Amino acid sequence: MTTELSHLRPSSLDTFLFGVCYYPEHWDADTRREDAQRMREAGIRVVRMAEFASELLEPQPGEYQFEFFDEVIAELGKQGISTILGIPTAAPPRWFSRMYPDAMIIDSRGNAMQHGSRQHVSLSHPKMRKYSRNITRAMAEHYADNPHVIGWQTDNEFHCHISEDHSPAAVSDFQEFLRGRYGSIDKLNQAWGNRFWSLGYQDFDEIPTPRTDHPTHPNPSQQLDYARFLSWRVTRFQRDQVEILRKTCPTAFIFHNGCFSKIDFRGDFTRDLDVLGFDSYPMFSFDVAPRAATHAFNLDRTRAWSGNFIIPELQSGPGGQAPYFHDQPEPGELRRMTYTSIAHGADGILYFRWRTCCYGAEMYWCGILDHDNIPRRRYAELQEIGRELAQVGPQLLGSHVEMDAAVAMADYEAAELHDTTPFGLPGLSAQSERIHSWFFNHQISVGCAHPADDLSGLKLFILPHWELVKPEWIPVLTRFVEQGGTLVIGARSGTRNLDNHVISETAPGLLRDLCGMEVRESSRKNRSDQRPWILKWDDQTHTAREWVEILDPLPGTQTLAQWNSRFATGETAITLAQRGKGRVLYVGTGLTEEWMDTFGPRLCELADLKPLLPRQPAGIEVVRRQKEDTTFWFLLNHADEPRILPEVPNGTWIIGEKPEEQEVTLEPNGVVVIRS
Ligand code: GAL
Repeated sequence: MTTELSHLRPSSLDTFLFGVCYYPEHWDADTRREDAQRMREAGIRVVRMAEFASELLEPQPGEYQFEFFDEVIAELGKQGISTILGIPTAAPPRWFSRMYPDAMIIDSRGNAMQHGSRQHVSLSHPKMRKYSRNITRAMAEHYADNPHVIGWQTDNEFHCHISEDHSPAAVSDFQEFLRGRYGSIDKLNQAWGNRFWSLGYQDFDEIPTPRTDHPTHPNPSQQLDYARFLSWRVTRFQRDQVEILRKTCPTAFIFHNGCFSKIDFRGDFTRDLDVLGFDSYPMFSFDVAPRAATHAFNLDRTRAWSGNFIIPELQSGPGGQAPYFHDQPEPGELRRMTYTSIAHGADGILYFRWRTCCYGAEMYWCGILDHDNIPRRRYAELQEIGRELAQVGPQLLGSHVEMDAAVAMADYEAAELHDTTPFGLPGLSAQSERIHSWFFNHQISVGCAHPADDLSGLKLFILPHWELVKPEWIPVLTRFVEQGGTLVIGARSGTRNLDNHVISETAPGLLRDLCGMEVRESSRKNRSDQRPWILKWDDQTHTAREWVEILDPLPGTQTLAQWNSRFATGETAITLAQRGKGRVLYVGTGLTEEWMDTFGPRLCELADLKPLLPRQPAGIEVVRRQKEDTTFWFLLNHADEPRILPEVPNGTWIIGEKPEEQEVTLEPNGVVVIRS
């Protein structure tokens, strides 16, 4: 369970999950019986349920009722369908908020949450933790020996609606967290730089949670610790559930579904689980053009946290809530979204949801079946996928996703630190996504990795603009470069420390020796069209955006590009340092879409990056999963028109039918998987 988290880690599941999210409590007994049969006919092997059924399971405090789910589980079991149960702590029943009104979350404006939707209770409140432990224990003990219950989901999408919490319970919990972290108040005052604006504290119990605009910007060191606290707190809350489940149901697997803000998914939160679950709703990209790239990025970002994952919720129909209603997946799109997920590291897929509910806040969140319960094309597609995955799913277990280039992701502290002073610049995820998208759109095999992960096998690694760089990353990055990798580091990197102070050494601090340069001047570039900074790399020019720096190469380091405007003319803008068999580029400006459009091809040349299969038409994505000597090639058509593939890898077609001729036509949403 606790093997190292790495983008290369396959999941520990011994079966490829294929299932649906099911809410039997919304339907009558006849419908439920028919459901189980129809699920079997579609090849469904597992359902997830109960994650919001708190009222049904515990109508009065401590009075548990399991008959309903016992029957449903047995009915499904008869059809060969296993069950994953969710602990229903994201929606505690009314009696809980009535008994403990002081347990409601309070937001940064001082408003208390209330019963009426979900996720309204503070994870710091002792009664909430007790409620969580009790319901977990009751469910675990009741289902421990039930052979149909194979797995557990902790809570549901922690932090999907709200993560901050300023309730009295959260404030005193934050103070305890700080006491544990610093031990003495003097240490905290120093780490937070509390001399500034006379913010010093005499005791931990004087410290508030930070609220923006109360009246102005809070201390960035305090904000970073608050982010650390929120992740620590949710990990502790989840651990209460995990410990009970592990002890009581030792053979079942445990996961959480999400993944939302203020959680360090490359930390104890995920180490406590068997596998991470990512809930995937590609239609949230309302713009069709970038949808495929965003979908790929979200999956690659998930893999960067801990390796292969499952999708406990994959959008099956359009989703709608009060402010929006998605585009519907077109014919074949559900199947293609499934294979896109698997290509990027999913070792199990459950669709959200079996049937659309006729009432409640999600009555327009469409499932496989519509409100009228008539199986239509989504059901037919499910059947097709079910047939295919019964053959192919098990073969894929144990494989990992191969990539040639990666963009840095997955460091919680670096991302949170940036967000304390973003200056209107994109967050770490958005910074990486635009670079990832450029490679994706140019059909270069790309993904994401943490800078301390195993980077062997990559040709290019890009660390965009991470103010926080940790000392333990330097040997990993150095090894990567010395063994032949190309490392690209963007402006502002390495300029802050773990206390969220600006470093007093010359930038880029810890990266100085690796990059072989220093930053002499560094500035925000607010309007690229006014007082422009023109960067010149050989005969190509680019108008700098977001940030500009003047660099001083150290002896042995080459100037690759210079500034060519105004007072910076002739100064260094990009450096290149040879290290072992590889090289490090430091780029003194924003690695924006425009920068990538101009200089992306040069990075490909430097790093010897080429599309995996040359001459593929636009809209074709090629991804590889590798298991020892076996390669699984996924070819996916995201375009709205058929595409002719002049060249495909040799091997056995395990999805799709191999045509006689060498040329292959992929219909819109067409998928081919070849094993070689
Ligand atoms: C997820 C959530 C589900 C459901 C779904 C559609 O975020 O886990 O419970 O709400 O989205 O909105």
